[in-house]
Amino acid sequence: MCGIIAYIGNKQALPILVKGLRRLEYRGYDSAGVAIAQDGKINRVRSVGRIDNLDEKLKDHTVEGTVGIAHTRWATHGGVTEENAHPHFGCDGKLVLVHNGIIENYRELKTNLGDTHEFKTQTDTEILAHLIEFHYEQQKIHNETPDVRLAVEHALAHVRGTYGLVVMHADHPDLLVAARLGSPLVVGIGEGEHYIASDATPMLAYTKKVIFLEDGEVAEISRDNMETYNLKDEAIEKHVEEIEWNETQAQKQGFDHFMLKEIFDQPTVFEDAIRGRYNLLEGTANLGGLNMSDDEMRSVNRVILIACGTASYAAMVGKYAFERLAGIPTEVDVASEFRYRDPIVDEHTLVFGVSQSGETADTLAALREAKRKGAFVRGIVNVVGSTIARETDGGTYIHAGPELAVASTKAYTNMVAIMVLYALQFGRLKRVSPATGQRLLKALREIPAKMHEILEQKDLIKEMALKYKDYKDFLFLGRGINFPVALEGSHKLKEISYIHSEAYPAGEMKHGVNALLASDFPVLAIMTKDQLYDKMRSNVEEIKARKAPILLIATKGDEGAKELTDDVLYVPDTMELLEPLLNTIPLQLFAYYIAVELGRDVDRPRNLAKSVTVE
Ligand code: M6R
Repeated sequence: MCGIIAYIGNKQALPILVKGLRRLEYRGYDSAGVAIAQDGKINRVRSVGRIDNLDEKLKDHTVEGTVGIAHTRWATHGGVTEENAHPHFGCDGKLVLVHNGIIENYRELKTNLGDTHEFKTQTDTEILAHLIEFHYEQQKIHNETPDVRLAVEHALAHVRGTYGLVVMHADHPDLLVAARLGSPLVVGIGEGEHYIASDATPMLAYTKKVIFLEDGEVAEISRDNMETYNLKDEAIEKHVEEIEWNETQAQKQGFDHFMLKEIFDQPTVFEDAIRGRYNLLEGTANLGGLNMSDDEMRSVNRVILIACGTASYAAMVGKYAFERLAGIPTEVDVASEFRYRDPIVDEHTLVFGVSQSGETADTLAALREAKRKGAFVRGIVNVVGSTIARETDGGTYIHAGPELAVASTKAYTNMVAIMVLYALQFGRLKRVSPATGQRLLKALREIPAKMHEILEQKDLIKEMALKYKDYKDFLFLGRGINFPVALEGSHKLKEISYIHSEAYPAGEMKHGVNALLASDFPVLAIMTKDQLYDKMRSNVEEIKARKAPILLIATKGDEGAKELTDDVLYVPDTMELLEPLLNTIPLQLFAYYIAVELGRDVDRPRNLAKSVTVE
């Protein structure tokens, strides 16, 4: 997720752009840049780091003009360098653009353009500038009047992936072209001026009148006019809306907290995580960054997943995936334990560090230890260019976008998605058939729609939260692959509501925990239709007999669940291995609504930090 702001009007663009970038910094903050057109030239200034760095650098430049584009980056492809920061040029320094999203087929498009275009960055975005420039030049070659919008439309016809983009051309200083597919863009309407941005935040100081671009739309925007087309070049009528949000509400896209927004981001970022990373025909994943030959992959006889907190619960799901699909014995180690345990690893051990921030001190230290002992060490990380990403010899970014709430939600689901894909990739080298791989991939592709189905039940989940909010202790139960889900649900509740809770594998109950069961000790049990359903159901019957209040997560259609309790939250059916991707979401919402009801500081719970960079 990156932030885009563009301006065309009669005021100096630079102050508006820089101020706008500051408002958008929550969307990405590893590097930033501006480009402003004047006198047939484009002036571009970029800098690594936060907007303050860019602002500082701009003091040494004169960048004047009344039309410009700007970007604050959250890297996905290519490290955090000034070269990779947006805006990006084509070859002749006249066409420049900013982009939010992922261009899935950028390598293929580069190859198709051949060596007539020189690329300067490692980003997926740069290809867009060159491709649009190519189509623009073609118009000239065919003696057509050069038209930036048409060049954008022609280029986008070849693109697979997602984009919100704004294009500017030095020879067309009265024009900006914006296009959207999968990444939001809003156009703000002022007097003789327009603003374009990833969300309404940066324009609220100037106008409340906006037009939201929809997927597949391309807009040609001048100072006084805006015309919108679809990708077939047919004109579209757009409606002007009045925004009622204030700035903070707009940053949260109208949600009350970042955590809630991030829970609702999950279907979208899940698609970002898997996009372009599998081959359905061959029934396998193709996560490129592993940097291991097929022989090296086959030589791995043990996987260790190292992580902390929520990442460790995601890793516990990953263990199931690696063992079931790849048949490789897999352990999950909490990083703070691993590093001091004198762990046994060798050159046949593959160690993954799983981390949202990529900066967690214990995870980093554990990975260094594993590296010292000769293991393959790789990262499954969200923050591009983070220390874990840099210090490991490869791995994969989970593409969850910036996660600002301390409680991790969307990073969890994307970590699970990536571990499932890795497990499949290893499995297909050994024992998984193409048909099994295809079944899994098809089920993975259905996950975003199923996540939406769960999110639509937010009011019911809130009702349950209100019913249960006053209990002082909770027990979360699961079995098999849903035991880590119980752990994560309990973890979420603890950290944001401060209610005591524990999670157990349900089969352990009669070995001690049954003694706690009573009418003031609610049990949240995950009883979806997996291979342990019958056993889980018996466990729940026993809890019912002991009069503990029961809240169930059950599979849609399981009417029998209602015989056990009135409080059932239904989730759509999926393959057992993918259940955690769905079953965790009602637990995130349950914890969230309880915490809100109890008046907690949901995004910044007490005593916790987003990134734990000390031991
Ligand atoms: O950045 P990391 O994924 O390495 O962080 C690990 C834990 O600190 C983190 O998951 C923590 O438990 C969160 N607060 C969970 O919501």
